[in-house]
Amino acid sequence: MNDRGTTAAGGRGWVGDPVPRLDGPLKVRGEAPFAAEFAYDGLVHAALVHSTIPKGRVTALDTAAAEAAPGVVLVMTHHNAPRMRPMPLSGTSEKAGGPDDLPVMQDDRVRWNGQTIAVVLAETPEQADHAASLVGAEYDAEPSTTSLARAKADGTHTAVLFGHELHVEVGDAEAALAAADVAVDATYRTPYQNHNALEPHALTVVWHGDDLVVHDASQVVVHTAWTLAHMFGIEEERVHVTAPYVGGHFGGKGVWSHQPLAVAAAKLAGRPVRLALSRKSVYRLVGGRSLTEQRVAIGASADGRFEALIHTGTSAHTRNDALVEAFPFTSRSAYATRTLLIDCQGAYQDMLTPSTMRAPGEAVGSFALESAVDEVAVALGLDPVELRIRNEPAVDPTSGRPFSSRHVVEAWRAGAERFGWAKRNPVPGAVREGEWLVGTGCAAASHLYVRQPGGRARLTLTADGAATVEIAAHDAGMGTATAQTQVAAESLALPPDRVTIRFADSTLPGLVAALGSSQTVTVAATVLAARRALVAELLTLVGTGSPLAGLTPDEVGPHDAGLARLGDPGRHESYASILAAAGRADVVVEASAPPPTEMAEWSMHSYGAMFCEVRVSAVTGEARVSRFLGSLDCGRVVNPTTAGGQFRGGIIMGMGLALTEQTLVDERNGRIMNPGLGEYHIPVHLDVPEIDVIWTGVPDPRSPLGARGIGELTITGTGAAIANAIHNATGKRVRELPITPDKLL
Ligand code: MOS
Repeated sequence: MNDRGTTAAGGRGWVGDPVPRLDGPLKVRGEAPFAAEFAYDGLVHAALVHSTIPKGRVTALDTAAAEAAPGVVLVMTHHNAPRMRPMPLSGTSEKAGGPDDLPVMQDDRVRWNGQTIAVVLAETPEQADHAASLVGAEYDAEPSTTSLARAKADGTHTAVLFGHELHVEVGDAEAALAAADVAVDATYRTPYQNHNALEPHALTVVWHGDDLVVHDASQVVVHTAWTLAHMFGIEEERVHVTAPYVGGHFGGKGVWSHQPLAVAAAKLAGRPVRLALSRKSVYRLVGGRSLTEQRVAIGASADGRFEALIHTGTSAHTRNDALVEAFPFTSRSAYATRTLLIDCQGAYQDMLTPSTMRAPGEAVGSFALESAVDEVAVALGLDPVELRIRNEPAVDPTSGRPFSSRHVVEAWRAGAERFGWAKRNPVPGAVREGEWLVGTGCAAASHLYVRQPGGRARLTLTADGAATVEIAAHDAGMGTATAQTQVAAESLALPPDRVTIRFADSTLPGLVAALGSSQTVTVAATVLAARRALVAELLTLVGTGSPLAGLTPDEVGPHDAGLARLGDPGRHESYASILAAAGRADVVVEASAPPPTEMAEWSMHSYGAMFCEVRVSAVTGEARVSRFLGSLDCGRVVNPTTAGGQFRGGIIMGMGLALTEQTLVDERNGRIMNPGLGEYHIPVHLDVPEIDVIWTGVPDPRSPLGARGIGELTITGTGAAIANAIHNATGKRVRELPITPDKLL
């Protein structure tokens, strides 16, 4: 039996088919329950009150008016909140999910501007919102650090990622830069950004005695269950977290303070509680991307070979978190440079804990790196596609490890052909149509390959020949369940309508977070492991008269709703027949995926060549993306329909990153000034042109199924492709995101 997911004898394959999302009809009919839609008798609604200072103490809370307001059940503050342990910091144990390890409403301290200081429960959401507006607070403010300049003045520290300091030196990059024929050396800045999933964070909570049920908008159900159990001092088995349908996670739907607050309020009230965060509360309580200040310097020889690559800088975070926006990460493996210096510094601020957000590090790091590469191309008078191909590394420049599969040069050539790159005018500002300055630009995309170690699944085969796979993975609209139905169907030689995937439930096997664009390979490796266990189990059941009698697991493979001898499909028995002959109603196996050793042995990434055409108004300074092409190299694509959605969605996020997205923070007090979609601008339909995506489709021989990650790939590179196109259109090099009209006039 092979482990590539193919059938024994070339039977019908499903992997690679453009299967529409299986949850589509349910969602269109409104029959897919989201976290804030679970109904319980006696359910009450929560609204939150947020602090208005960044640091200090709450000296007085006036809750009397709120408590007297219509429909109010109770007001919870640090005076009456149930005891909870601090949130366990992510990474301190395998199921710990906290972005920080702060106590939640256990004392009078304020630790960021926007922290929850009161929770109001009422019979209706409107009554809760109204009563929350009546809560008064007085503070004793303390000196705080709420600007990057002030934080840097207090000293910075080297950031740590995956347990390693983010600092790499190969040779003497500063000396090589100084000696290079051509050098660019520039500072790039990217702003704070906030999460704006279509579905704001929400949960419905019900206590049954000491048993806790939580329907959450989550990308980490098992981590959430474990974390809540720890905080409330109950057994993990007594907490049941589900997230069957979620409207986008993007790194923001982990564990935050609002979940323990809702659970505590439900405990205090003795009634089920629903907390659906307002968009404003999402900004106050759920951290997004922190700001960065990056230096990228590249020294090149006259023929365009990189002699030095320097990518350093600083990002702000808090004293209680575990993560810094790791912007120089992507520069470790991007180019065949003779010398390399990478360094990421963190600076402490009194702020909401920043967190993972859509290609953390790589999205904003690739903006700086790929802008600088474009600057080198301009300085050399060399085509930017050719410059990148000329610096294509043979092995990983940092680790020295071979690439598992890297066909980005093919992606560059195919993309350039399809985009019509050869027709480009390389002279900045040379193409004008009326008021519109037209330009084109390109940039490389890249995203680290991750396969999680926690893949474990239960596979049940029933007497009617249907299969169910159960694994605590997640689907927020990416198509996880659809893709894995295809994987399971193909690997079991069953039609997809005979396969059910159950997921996003903390009582299921496995520890699989929807993070790092890693679920497809993590779950697929687990499905294949479960298939192997199932085949072994079925062979112990076959009778002596079976065509399969005497065969070992390595001699058979799934074929036509059953098993057959490899290369001899005539020796076949259906699953239904095997179970019937053995008198079994079902066969249940549970299996774990092999550990992800490929990540240590190979340099593994997904890649892309991004091409953009922009039109910049010489009158208003507005930049419109008029054409975009992503030419990708990301291994085998399991489902072109759902993958196409991921690719296009990422490019649209990259458009927001380049042109509009910015959380405005008042540096005097750390207050977010634009907490809502009215003033925090993301691309809307009219901003988005037809987006073309193509891919090499070359399977990665080192990954399960030959697939790599795709979810966050196209958020990288896109920002720089747009900025580089704007330079080509206008001659203006904007090194600070977002590229708003004022920067182009
Ligand atoms: Mo993603 S930021 O790894 O959910």
